[in-house]
Amino acid sequence: MENKVFFAWNDAMSVGIAEIDVQHKTLVGILNRLCMAVAQFESSGITVEILDALVDYTRIHFALEEKLLKDAGHDVAEFDAHLLEHRAFIARIGNIASMHRAEGKSVSLEILSLLKRWLQEHILIADKKYASSLKEAGFSTKEWSEFAKNVMSEKQEAAPKRKQWWKAWQAQQNSWTEN
Ligand SMILES: [Fe+2]
Repeated sequence: MENKVFFAWNDAMSVGIAEIDVQHKTLVGILNRLCMAVAQFESSGITVEILDALVDYTRIHFALEEKLLKDAGHDVAEFDAHLLEHRAFIARIGNIASMHRAEGKSVSLEILSLLKRWLQEHILIADKKYASSLKEAGFSTKEWSEFAKNVMSEKQEAAPKRKQWWKAWQAQQNSWTEN
């Protein structure tokens, strides 16, 4: 039987900042895990857990991107537009998660495709745009990646044990993102 990954990572999606790529791959992996849960009719409890992980990790990732952009003195108009996209996505997945929790509604393929399309477009357009304008402004992607990594490990140390699940997601992401 053909085992096709719902959302395959594609190198064209790389923004050239290692830690940000790792996080994007993790988000892609969570969406693939969600798709698997839907396709295999896994329990509602598991779906809620995955949706919570998606909301949680997206918040962490967006907060980091926003901090990086702010610290780098990124163009204000572009920053604001980027922020709006982040907020809209958080609101969207938050709604999906609470609808699922309240009504036990299953996540449709339509919703999955929408989330996939949104994330893909956001990375390919908005994220690549900030990455290249920061590169042009002379920011070192290596330093950025180091900075991002440090912020993440501080967060990880500060988080309660049950919130440290993203390590496991990251360890498994390759099997979830590669075709
Ligand atoms: Fe972004």
